[in-house]
Amino acid sequence: MTVFAFLSAGGGVGKTTMALHLAHRFLLEGRRVLLVDLDPSAGLSTALLGEEGAARAEESGLTVGHLLWRLLKGAPVDWAGYVARPRLGGLEVDLLVGGEELSDVMGSIWFSATWPSPESVLGRLLGPVFAAYEVVILDTIPFYERRYSMSAFFAAEKVVVVAHPYGAEPARLRRMFAKFAQVLQTTPLDMKTRLLVNKVGNDREGKAWRERLAQAAIPVFKTVIGDRVAYSRVPEMAYVKDRKARGEVESWFREVVEWAATEVEVF
Ligand SMILES: Nc1ncnc2c1ncn2[C@@H]1O[C@H](COP(=O)(O)OP(=O)(O)O)[C@@H](O)[C@H]1O
Ligand SMILES: [Mg+2]
Repeated sequence: MTVFAFLSAGGGVGKTTMALHLAHRFLLEGRRVLLVDLDPSAGLSTALLGEEGAARAEESGLTVGHLLWRLLKGAPVDWAGYVARPRLGGLEVDLLVGGEELSDVMGSIWFSATWPSPESVLGRLLGPVFAAYEVVILDTIPFYERRYSMSAFFAAEKVVVVAHPYGAEPARLRRMFAKFAQVLQTTPLDMKTRLLVNKVGNDREGKAWRERLAQAAIPVFKTVIGDRVAYSRVPEMAYVKDRKARGEVESWFREVVEWAATEVEVF
């Protein structure tokens, strides 16, 4: 089993989009995949279930936030009842739905749980659920809401930091990695973390960012994901019909699989 977490410094960089594309690649390989929407605004769940579907899960008390409450209280729980089964590119995928309930439970976890550290509680609670899958993909919200990034970082074996490196993003990334180094006692060079450059154009600015990032002390995926309409067409997964987009995802996927097979270095 491999748990991947998608993190970012800024918002709207393509975490959810790329998490879905990775899930789709693993589904095509016949893997048992669980998507976990750790977003109170339920971006990924809405993409897969539609607005109504995501709202229904919230009303029925069947989101990952509700599940976490039960696990936190130590109440007996049949977690399979919380798993939605939407389609992604025509294939069925398991999903723990995001929603507003997450905000409250994450707050509670953060401020009340002290053992062994608040960052580790989410992974510990959901561990038995993750164990039932070959691939688990956690989608989060940007680092300015630290609890989500930190919890996902702790729960994951591999952390994909998605970056759309324009404007203030490089500065935000530097701040985020500095905080990781301080709080999680890990460095950007940790084999656990890799940067995915997304939505970069073939213009001069895009090229300049790519070169700058290649020199940064952060491991970066060689594959760069271009700015292409096909990527926004989810859950149909329109990228498979776009030769360039499919080539990018396949190349990135090969890197991911190779990376996932390597052990995390312990410093
Ligand atoms: N490579 C890309 N090319 C074109 N559009 C993209 C790409 N990646 C993401 N998008 C679009 O950018 C917007 C933000 O993406 P999203 O995955 O929701 O970001 P995040 O989850 O980081 O907030 C969405 O409208 C999405 O369709
Ligand atoms: Mg998102």
